[in-house]
Amino acid sequence: MVSQLPADINNRSADTTIREPVRSEPSAPLDKSADRIRAMFAEIAPRYDFLNHLLSAGLDIAWRRRTAQRAPRPLVGPILDVCTGTGDLALAYWKAGSRRVVVIGLDACEPMLRLAQRKARRHGAADWIEWVLGDTQQLPFATGTFQVVSVAFGIRNVSDPLQGLSEMVRVCTRGGQVAVLEFAFPKNRIFGRLFRWYFNRVLPRIGQFFARNRFEAYRYLPESVGLFEQGTAFARRLEEVGLGQVEMLPMTGGIATLYLGRKP
Ligand SMILES: C[S@@+](CC[C@H](N)C(=O)[O-])C[C@H]1O[C@@H](n2cnc3c(N)ncnc32)[C@H](O)[C@@H]1O
Repeated sequence: MVSQLPADINNRSADTTIREPVRSEPSAPLDKSADRIRAMFAEIAPRYDFLNHLLSAGLDIAWRRRTAQRAPRPLVGPILDVCTGTGDLALAYWKAGSRRVVVIGLDACEPMLRLAQRKARRHGAADWIEWVLGDTQQLPFATGTFQVVSVAFGIRNVSDPLQGLSEMVRVCTRGGQVAVLEFAFPKNRIFGRLFRWYFNRVLPRIGQFFARNRFEAYRYLPESVGLFEQGTAFARRLEEVGLGQVEMLPMTGGIATLYLGRKP
């Protein structure tokens, strides 16, 4: 519910239009330009939830629930979930906060946000969750606003992930938590091989079959995970952008990892 937000929540800029990102790294080999990423998610939006649950055999639900359960207590909010997509992590935080915590879900892709909004209404969360069209790399919120700032399976898609992470840290309160949930490749040799076979060979075919799209989004998924930093290398990045007490919690044999950090 917008009226429950702190008065200064939006005072950095009321403009939620999407601007071109400022790059701080050389271009990645994958095309992660804002327009392309937005168009890709817009095309797969209607099948996004169905495929998430199918391709992970429902594990994604438990990963997001665990993420929300690791929020600091008491969970008073407000909470910001960036790259929120269809809003599942935003909803998980709302539930973890006894359905009485203000959450903002931000995404650059309007069709994803529209689905999120509809889902929130179905769950009776419409008065508590606000959906904002915007860019994680230039968050339209005041410094030090949110008790928790989270991202699930999203930071890898941001054109400049370090800029996105820096913004997440900026809008977090001192002592607040930044949570990043992201795919990883399991360390166990046999499970790792099996997972890579599924992730690289099987998943793109099933994905393209159910969500036919020009961008081969489900081929992009394993490619983008393969090119993204994982484990201690990524944890170091979180320290570089100013987080302390960084922890890593591998889930389901290391298919996904939850990274948590505190803003000092
Ligand atoms: C793989 S989906 C993840 C959605 C959701 N967090 C989940 O757990 O399922 C990635 C989302 O990131 C969004 N995204 C990518 N770059 C973005 C940016 N720079 N700012 C905001 N959202 C962005 C996409 O539009 C897409 O909805």
